[in-house]
Amino acid sequence: MKPIAERTGRHCLRLPSNRLGLYLALRHWCTPGQRLLMSPISADEILFLVLAAGLRPVIAPLSPHDGNIDVGRADLSQVDAVLTTNLYGLPDQMSAFAGKIVIEDVAHALESTFEGRPLGTFGQAGVFSLSKHPAAGSGGVLAVEHRSDLAALQQARDELLVPGAPLRQLFDVATSMGRQTALKLDLVRPALFLARRLGLQEPREGYRIALRPDSLDEALKQVPCLPAFDQWVCADLHDFRARRGRVARWYQSRRLAKVPAERDRRLDGVRLLAELPTVAAAVRDHLDQPLFRVPLLVRDRDAAVAELERHGVAVGYLYDPPYDDYAPGYTDPSPDPGPARWWARHVLPVNPIYASRALPILMNLLPAPPL
Ligand SMILES: Cc1ncc(COP(=O)(O)O)c(C=O)c1O
Repeated sequence: MKPIAERTGRHCLRLPSNRLGLYLALRHWCTPGQRLLMSPISADEILFLVLAAGLRPVIAPLSPHDGNIDVGRADLSQVDAVLTTNLYGLPDQMSAFAGKIVIEDVAHALESTFEGRPLGTFGQAGVFSLSKHPAAGSGGVLAVEHRSDLAALQQARDELLVPGAPLRQLFDVATSMGRQTALKLDLVRPALFLARRLGLQEPREGYRIALRPDSLDEALKQVPCLPAFDQWVCADLHDFRARRGRVARWYQSRRLAKVPAERDRRLDGVRLLAELPTVAAAVRDHLDQPLFRVPLLVRDRDAAVAELERHGVAVGYLYDPPYDDYAPGYTDPSPDPGPARWWARHVLPVNPIYASRALPILMNLLPAPPL
């Protein structure tokens, strides 16, 4: 985890996933019953781990500029804490949250900065994911400012960890290596076909996992309690709190060490995609950031996803609908849900590393209708 400790200058705790780290941070710095401002657009499991921590999700208005919290229209006086998303690597407006408890989800933002300073160094904690830029299949790192917090967080982590199955971990490492090879050799279509046949993809209703309100109401009676929410928080990563063995840890470190070597390719892809008329406006302000994905905003997004897949380009990380439409009653809804609905419906996140492979299709896509 040395590269993250060096980048952030913070004390780091190794984890089997980012989501476990977000839960630990929310439990460590927040008190059940507190109100947490969060973006309406992020991964399914994030909403459920916030609920598991006993917090009330207050859904922020979304900026159509970058898909993050619209700080100009969010009422910070009504919340105790903020969870940032840094969607696809585009930085949240960190200076706006001073004075609040801030937990940074930097899963997408390993290489991003805000006003020249690395993300993950602003809040009480920054939580990285090794399955994103490093593409290590799984793994997370919690980075905190004060060493004094580390011992309590480590103890809380160890209480939540369950034993890992060695064979399962070997399988996961092999699957991750296979995925990298398929991407490099332009074999995404057969790889996707195989993953679906082997049941490796999470069942979803549209782009979100099933909400199962009856079970959710039961789980909510036990908060704060992560295990009661396992069935939701485990989306796409069933062993998100399983202890990792030596091989998995070696693989994670190796993948993390390779991230800098991809930086230039990532930046080239960002600059190439930034020339498209469909690119989200904020990308053009961040041509120096090696984004995780480059968000385009296109007219018929689902048709574009299918077309890209036919040409061997897989599209993931789609968060549609926004949380307040997905889980009404479990959140304080956004005061203005329109921009988040528009973003969720039209965004097409493209991996900048494979930008030129996708470009012939992307060039023909029409921009999203105006908001
Ligand atoms: C924005 C965001 N945050 C957090 C996570 C969770 O990361 P991990 O799979 O390492 O728990 C994801 C996973 O897709 C994500 O997209």
